[in-house]
Amino acid sequence: MSQVDDCLAVIHKAVGDFVPQVGMVLGSGLGTFADQVDAVASIGFDDLPGFPQAGVGGHAGRLVLGRVGGTGVAVLQGRAHYYEHGKADVMAVVIQTFKAMGCEALILTNAAGSMVADAGPGSVMLITDHINMTGVSPLFGAQGNSRFVDMTQAYNQNMNDAMRKAALANNVKLHEGVYAWMCGPHFETPAEIRALKVLGAQAVGMSTVPEVILARHQGLPLCALSIVTNYASGMSPTPLSHEQTMEYAKMATDGVERLLNAFLHAYGAPL
Ligand code: HPA
Repeated sequence: MSQVDDCLAVIHKAVGDFVPQVGMVLGSGLGTFADQVDAVASIGFDDLPGFPQAGVGGHAGRLVLGRVGGTGVAVLQGRAHYYEHGKADVMAVVIQTFKAMGCEALILTNAAGSMVADAGPGSVMLITDHINMTGVSPLFGAQGNSRFVDMTQAYNQNMNDAMRKAALANNVKLHEGVYAWMCGPHFETPAEIRALKVLGAQAVGMSTVPEVILARHQGLPLCALSIVTNYASGMSPTPLSHEQTMEYAKMATDGVERLLNAFLHAYGAPL
């Protein structure tokens, strides 16, 4: 049996015939959204073979299954990053398990640095495309023609529109931008940020892109949100730190949670 089959067995034992429609990954500082789930079950990563070990501070490491506004969700509280062990496919079993559980779409969230003056700390940004600056892929070693994933519409138009609509209806200012994936765990230099701006990125971070690639490999449509925790390197006198990231992530939590709630309440309804 594969690790995904093993995970499915654990999950089915916990939730019976409950099937989630939307899989979600909660990034730094957003873990509290899991409390809004009308939970059917909560399973620690330790009990799910191939799920990441809890890593960065603020990440509890559990999979919460249940409902938000009538939509079945599988919520990953905590994720693993490439920079933890240098493995780009560290989220592969998670994403494959989402698909195997029956999820039909994914929402990915993260904390990011902003490269636009307009979108300061505490802002929320819809990721409309990305630039992979790491030179690695979570699909290294994958077999078959399906590994040549088409990334032209990686961020789903319909889901993006639904997110825009939810933002408008709930008075959440939703910025939009291209996310540059840097390997981390160090922050960028000011020169790197100047270069990323020239390349056309508006946000920068150390996660999400591997999950996007893995999800598209599984044929899962997705959308992604960044919480802006800081202006990118060189744009503000405030020194960059993980502590600052966590602090500002909390500031935007309210808006993002309202947005996610509204999205999930409207999920499945015609736009
Ligand atoms: N750079 C990279 N990753 C980040 C940042 C940043 O400025 N802020 C939050 N995550």
